[in-house]
Amino acid sequence: MAAEMALVKPISKFSNTTPKFGTPRIGSYSKFSIIRMSTTTPTPPAAASTSAKPSKKGKTAIKETLLTPRFYTTDFDEMEMLFNTEINKNLNQDEFVALLQEFKTDYNQTHFVRNKEFKEAADKIDGPLRQIFVEFLERSCTAEFSGFLLYKELGRRLKKTNPVVAEIFSLMSRDEARHAGFLNKGLSDFNLALDLGFLTKARKYTFFKPKFIFYATYLSEKIGYWRYITIYRHLKQNPEYQCYPIFKYFENWCQDENRHGDFFSALMKAQPQFLNDWKAKLWARFFCLSVYVTMYLNDCQRTAFYEGIGLDTKEFDMHVIIETNRTTARIFPAVLDVENPEFKRKLDRMVEINEKLLAVGETDDIPLVKNLKRIPLVAALVSELLAAYLMPPIESGSVDLAEFEPQLVY
Ligand SMILES: [Fe+2]
Ligand SMILES: [Fe+2]
Repeated sequence: MAAEMALVKPISKFSNTTPKFGTPRIGSYSKFSIIRMSTTTPTPPAAASTSAKPSKKGKTAIKETLLTPRFYTTDFDEMEMLFNTEINKNLNQDEFVALLQEFKTDYNQTHFVRNKEFKEAADKIDGPLRQIFVEFLERSCTAEFSGFLLYKELGRRLKKTNPVVAEIFSLMSRDEARHAGFLNKGLSDFNLALDLGFLTKARKYTFFKPKFIFYATYLSEKIGYWRYITIYRHLKQNPEYQCYPIFKYFENWCQDENRHGDFFSALMKAQPQFLNDWKAKLWARFFCLSVYVTMYLNDCQRTAFYEGIGLDTKEFDMHVIIETNRTTARIFPAVLDVENPEFKRKLDRMVEINEKLLAVGETDDIPLVKNLKRIPLVAALVSELLAAYLMPPIESGSVDLAEFEPQLVY
């Protein structure tokens, strides 16, 4: 998994601002800290950032909000039933065996090797960009680790029912562990480390039924692919913004995410009941909207990061959304019309409302007053979300539904 669960036209222009890196601050960041996620109630309603803040005992706590990367759990018994070849005749075992071979090949086995450039580059990143860079690493590491936990458990639970699918999940968890580990090593360049053991135990898990896990993880993998490859291509063309070597690894890295997404695509094809009715269309649109909006709001709160690597945040996000949506249209039965200019206008209005909501949180008002001030803003945000959801969708998908229906055994 990558980036958030949270988000297709090529990027035409990027801002020409110079990279915002300062001079090296030798010895300024000598203290090593462990970062732990707090499990406090999320900040309602539109959520802020996972801002790291110093806490007692030298540890760093991260504020968890609605837009923070989540950990997922599911109904493993239902999963076992879905992948039982005796029950589900749609499972194309040959396709899964071929996919398993791909995963066993392990193309990136020797890809994630660090060098001394990392620490040197980290020491040159200074000022506000340094903090926002750390946050990028933390959030990415959490998202990758979340994928690791979910896939590992699925690999374990499906072993008896469907050993091939189970092994693919285990190999995907291998990839995600590698990604999370690489990002966590990146944090060590900033003298920080995410306490992943603590995260596993202390973090709240969001329960999704298997069908929703498929929609959410498919989108998460594909949006992760488009984010990584877009950053990689941009920095290849504009090397003056290559401020930290991790981005050089994104080309092969994103291929892992792409493979993960393709596996979920195969899984969904094997479960046509999740793709072939009006409910599936409504849910597909809902998950697309949640993921795109989450990414857009998150990234617009962190424009310093994207501008720091020479990207225009909104252009970058729209490119990623449009490409992800085009990819998703191959499998989801309906997607949003994200290329309609009205969709972006709605996203931009949500950003404005979210900024106002964040501003309310920053005031010195008592909680009751803050909540009263939030009511009209939340109503406005919900109304924009609903309007975006209700925009005429695009009928999509490649599953031949008629072909599958007679074979359904549920
Ligand atoms: Fe990943
Ligand atoms: Fe992934």
